[in-house]
Amino acid sequence: MRRAKITIIGAGNVGATCAHWAAAKELGDIVLLDIVDGMPQGKALDLFEASPVEGYDAAIVGTNSYDDTAGSDIVIITSGIARKPGMSRDELLETNVKIVSSVTEQVVQKSPDAVLIIVSNPLDAMVYTAHKVSGFPTNRVVGQAGVLDAARYRAFLAMEIGCSVEDISAMLMGGHGDDMVPLPRYTTVAGIPVMQLVSAGKLDEIVLRTRNGGAEIVNLLKSGSAYYAPSAATVAMAESIIRDKKRVFPCAAHCDKEYGVGGFFVGVPCVLGKAGVEKVLEIELDSREKEMFHSSVEHVKELCAQTDGFLSK
Ligand code: LAC
Repeated sequence: MRRAKITIIGAGNVGATCAHWAAAKELGDIVLLDIVDGMPQGKALDLFEASPVEGYDAAIVGTNSYDDTAGSDIVIITSGIARKPGMSRDELLETNVKIVSSVTEQVVQKSPDAVLIIVSNPLDAMVYTAHKVSGFPTNRVVGQAGVLDAARYRAFLAMEIGCSVEDISAMLMGGHGDDMVPLPRYTTVAGIPVMQLVSAGKLDEIVLRTRNGGAEIVNLLKSGSAYYAPSAATVAMAESIIRDKKRVFPCAAHCDKEYGVGGFFVGVPCVLGKAGVEKVLEIELDSREKEMFHSSVEHVKELCAQTDGFLSK
C-alpha cells in the first residue's frame, strides 16, 4: 500500500516540528520545503537520522523545489513571518498574504488533489487567501487554530483542577484572534460539566488566558512564536484526515449557511476525514455566545476585506 505523502511548506520552528510529530506518528512520507538553501535539507536529514533510534519508518526529504512536493495528499502551509512581542497577528497580514498566495499557487500546481491545512497567521485570513488562490473546493481547505486554542484551554483547566489533560474535552469557536470564543458550557471533565468543578471567576480567568495564549508564549520567547502546541495541533488534524478518523475538532472551516456566516472560514466544530472537512457541526449557542461568535466573525470579515485589497495589488 502506498504511504500517504505529507508536504510541509516552511521549515521554521512550526514546520520542522510538524515534521517531527508526523514522523513520530508514522503518518507517511514527508517533504519539508523552504526557500532557504540547505536548511530544510539539513533538518530533514537530521530527523531521518533520528528514525533508527526512535523506530519510525518514513522517507523524509528536505527541498527548495516544489517538484518534490508533487502528488501530496496533505500540504501543511506554515510559511510567513511570525509576530514579535507587542504585535498582534493582524499586523502580519500584508506580508503573509503575499507569501501564502505565492506558496499556494505553486503547491496546487503540483498537488491538485491535496487537502491544504493552513497554519500561517493571521489564520482566518490566510485560509481565505489559500482558498481563493487555489480554487479548491471548500472541504479541501482548512485552517488550524481551534485545536491549538482548545489545547491551551484544556491545559489551563487541567492545571487548575489538578487532573489529567486527557480528561478535559472542550469546544471553542470563532477566529484565531483575541476574540476567539471558548465555550465553558461545552467543556467537560470526564463527562462532568466543568462549571461544576471550577468557579465562574476562575473560568473567566482561564478563558482570558486562553485568548492571550499565543501572546503569552511570544512574550516569553521574545523572538518567534509558539511551535510545539501549534504543530502538535496541526498534525492531529493531518492524522484525522490521513487515517480517516473523522475526529471532531474546532477548525477554521468554510461556513456559508452554517451559523449564518455567509461564506467565510471561521472556527467551528467539524468532522475531519479523508475528504478533508466532511461536516460542520452546528451546535446551539446562547445569546451571549452568539454575540461573541458573531463579533469574532465580523473581525474575520474585516481582515478578509483587507486581504482582497492586498491580493488585487
Ligand atoms: C499562537 C500563534 C502561532 O497562537 O498563532 O501561538
